[in-house]
Amino acid sequence: MASIIMNHHSFSTIAAYLGLAASLAGPLHADPSAKIEHGRYLVEQVAMCADCHSPRGEKGAFIVGKEYTGAPLGFAPTVPMPAWADTAPFIAGLPNYTTEQAVKFFVTGERPTGVPVRPPMPEYRMCKEDTEAVVAYLQTVKLKF
Ligand code: HEC
Repeated sequence: MASIIMNHHSFSTIAAYLGLAASLAGPLHADPSAKIEHGRYLVEQVAMCADCHSPRGEKGAFIVGKEYTGAPLGFAPTVPMPAWADTAPFIAGLPNYTTEQAVKFFVTGERPTGVPVRPPMPEYRMCKEDTEAVVAYLQTVKLKF
């Protein structure tokens, strides 16, 4: 009987240590679904990537099922801007980027081709953790199509 009690006690001690270890295990995004969820939040609620990258129907509402498939911009600069891109490209799933290239792009603003991205694409300078979350989320977006 005593040994059973001992076992139970050691089990909960170990479980407590494991729980502590998990909570101390550094990176915020040890859990991949939490990382994707954080990316979704940044893309859809903070950076508003869809504003430019998702096509809209006649009444201005986003076309459901076509999110992040690229769109002509519905606005133009009021002063001359030689390097102005009037179309936001397809970014669903980030097909032209490896994870590493995409992370670099959002941290430095540098494309893998070396061709600088034109305005009005914001030159984001996200921290590495946010960048990884944004990339992870965008890579899942392709699954919708
Ligand atoms: C204000 C409009 C706008 C917003 C907001 C915006 N983009 Fe862009 N984005 C553009 C335009 C326009 C381009 C094309 C630039 C060019 O052709 O040089 C572009 C280019 C890109 C590219 C390069 C694609 C390629 O083919 O190399 C990526 C990746 C990208 N955007 C991702 C994002 C993400 C992710 C967000 C949100 C975190 C975002 N963009 C927000 C307008 C925008």
